[in-house]
Amino acid sequence: MQPADRLIDNLASLATVDADGGFSVVHDAAIAIRDGHIEAVGPRAEVHAAVALAAGAEVIDATGLSAVPGLVDCHTHVVYGGNRVHEFDLRAQGADYERIAAEGGGIKASVRMTREASDDELLAAATRRLARMRELGTTTAEVKSGYGLTAHDEARMLRTARAAGAAAGVRVRTTCLALHSTPPEADSPDAYVETAIAEILPACAELAEQADVFLERGVFDVDQSRRYLEAARDLGLGLRLHADQFSELGAVGLAIELGALSVDHLEATGPGGVEALADSDVIAVGLPVAALTLRRPMPPLREILDRGGRVALATDANPGSAPCLSLPTTMHLACTQMGLSCAEALAAATHGGAAVLGLDHEVGRLIPGQRADVVLVDGPDWRSLIAELGAVPARVLAG
Ligand code: NIG
Ligand code: FE
Repeated sequence: MQPADRLIDNLASLATVDADGGFSVVHDAAIAIRDGHIEAVGPRAEVHAAVALAAGAEVIDATGLSAVPGLVDCHTHVVYGGNRVHEFDLRAQGADYERIAAEGGGIKASVRMTREASDDELLAAATRRLARMRELGTTTAEVKSGYGLTAHDEARMLRTARAAGAAAGVRVRTTCLALHSTPPEADSPDAYVETAIAEILPACAELAEQADVFLERGVFDVDQSRRYLEAARDLGLGLRLHADQFSELGAVGLAIELGALSVDHLEATGPGGVEALADSDVIAVGLPVAALTLRRPMPPLREILDRGGRVALATDANPGSAPCLSLPTTMHLACTQMGLSCAEALAAATHGGAAVLGLDHEVGRLIPGQRADVVLVDGPDWRSLIAELGAVPARVLAG
C-alpha cells in the first residue's frame, strides 16, 4: 500500500454504507488518505498496521469526533435571482402554493428575477449558497436550471452552477430543467415543449449530465414530458422527474417506462405507485423540507424501503417550496416525520444520492478508492448530526 499523505485519527466512531451495500459503524476508527482518495479505513489499529505515513503527512486528531461520508445532495435549485420570502409569509397566513403560481408568482416570479439578474449577481448568490451547503456537510450537489426557460438563460444557469461549485469547493453535477414552467412569451405549453426540444436541450446538452421535468397538473402532462425526456435521452442525458408532488398523473409509470434514474417528491403517491417503484430500479427521492413547508403529506419512503425499493434524500433547496440548504436538517425530518432510522437517512443522503447522480463508485461511502470526502461530526456518536435539529458539522473535508 502507498504511504498516506493525510490521516484522520482517533475517531470515536465512523458510519458508512460499506462496499457490499450494508451499513457499518466502526468504533475507535481512522481514515488514511492519499491524493484525495481513501487508502484505508476502519479500526485504528488495522489502519495503522496497513498504511505508512509519508514525510510531512497531515495528521488530524479527531478525538471526541465521529465521521460520516461527505453528503450528496442530489436535487437542488440553488441558482436563482431575487427571492420569494414574501410568498413564504403569504403561505404562513394561509395562501396556497399552486394558487400563487397560477397568479404569476412562484416559479414564474423566479424566472423573471433570474432573467433580470446579471451574471455576476447570479454567480455570487449561487456560490454563497453552495459554500453554506459545504459548511453543512454537502460535498457533492446536483444543481438544476429551470428559472431561465430560454436556450440562453438555461445555459447561463448551468454554466453558473458549475462555476459556483468550483468556487465553493462543492462537486457539482448539473441538470437541465427546461420543462419547469411555460414562459410568458410561449404561445402554449405544447409550443414551449417543442422549443425546449428543438432549442433548449441541444444548447444545454454539453452543460448538463441530466434532464428533469415538472410533471404536474397545470404544468406539464405525461405526453409532453415523454416527448421531452425521449429527446433528452437521445442527447445522452440521464432522466429525472419531479413526480406526484400534488397529483398522481402517471409520472411514476413514465419514469419506469423510460428507465429514469429517479422520481423526486412523491407526496401524492399512492399504494400502486409505491409498489411499482419498489419493484423497479428507479430511485425514489424524498424531499421532506418541501413537504413540510407546503404542509403536504410526507413521501412514502418508509413504505418503499420496506418493500425493497431504492431511496435517496435531498434538500430541494429553492426559493419557494424548500428554503433550506441543510441535508442534516433533511435527514432529521426523514427520521422524525417519515420513520427512517438514522442509518437509513444517512445512507439515503450519501450513497443513495450518489447513485441518483451516477457517482456511487466515486463518492458517498467511506471505503478504499472513493474520494476522501469526510464530514467530521461534533461528538462521539455520528447520529448527533441528524438528531440535533440544525446541526452543523465540526469540519468538512473534500478529496
Ligand atoms: O421541487 N416543484 C417544482 N419545482 C420546485 C419548486 C420550485 C419553486 O417553487 O421555485 C420543487 O419544489
Ligand atoms: Fe425540485
